[in-house]
Amino acid sequence: MEVIVAKSAGFCFGVKRAVDTVYEQVEKASGDDKIYTYGPIIHNEQVVEELQNHGVEVLEEGKLGEVKKGTIIIRSHGVEKKIYDQIEAQNLTCVDATCPFVKRIHKVVEKESAEGKQIIIVGNDGHPEVVGIEGWCHNKAVVIGTVEEAENYQGSKETELCVVSQTTFRMNKFQEIVDIFATKGYNVNVVNTICNATEERQTEAKAIAQKADVMIVIGGAHSSNSRKLYEICKSECEQTYFIQTLDDLHLELPKSVRLVGITAGASTPNNIIEEVQSYVRRNF
Ligand code: F3S
Repeated sequence: MEVIVAKSAGFCFGVKRAVDTVYEQVEKASGDDKIYTYGPIIHNEQVVEELQNHGVEVLEEGKLGEVKKGTIIIRSHGVEKKIYDQIEAQNLTCVDATCPFVKRIHKVVEKESAEGKQIIIVGNDGHPEVVGIEGWCHNKAVVIGTVEEAENYQGSKETELCVVSQTTFRMNKFQEIVDIFATKGYNVNVVNTICNATEERQTEAKAIAQKADVMIVIGGAHSSNSRKLYEICKSECEQTYFIQTLDDLHLELPKSVRLVGITAGASTPNNIIEEVQSYVRRNF
């Protein structure tokens, strides 16, 4: 039996950068310096737990006002502008680990909304990255997550639209949504802000799933990019499993299985991928 592990599995550039940033801060910190991440640094419980063991606290939503002293690290998918303002107003240190690709979206929507365009964010309403992007718009952005929502959009045709995307959104679905706005006669300025890391990971996962008998997708339960990876693989390979760690894997492989594919979402650390891979190689 052959095992293929996707080259693009695991931490993307932005997540690696954010996690490294937290460890750098841990090393720099002395004595009673307190380090907080604004929300969990990534959607991975193991990583968050390990950081907590190093004294890094996860700041829950709405709790920023209670912090008197310390460093606040902004995670890779970014936050609203008002959070930076609040950190500054409270005289706290801000370390910004927002992925540069997300930062680019903030800049685009800030500029385009200031010029009077209606911002359309193609993404999952309520996802922290989307909330962050909304928080850089000068006017109220509209979040569109489905083709139906795009079809039902009723905004004025007089106003030019600027369409951006959550970085982890699926490319073909984004294109479909954009096409709907154009067909409806809107003047659309499309800024494709889907991150290459996601696209590459999705394309590679699909290619492996097409030839695999069994596919394993490793990712956090709350990670949207991992869930999407699972959907893509599942549509190509009936026997696709979604797991968080090796403990969730209860595989029984029939002899007829020739190829097992493994991929992982952007917030899955390498050691977990390694563990799963060597388990499958050892046991089947
Ligand atoms: Fe950044 Fe892309 Fe990762 S936007 S956080 S490199 S998925």
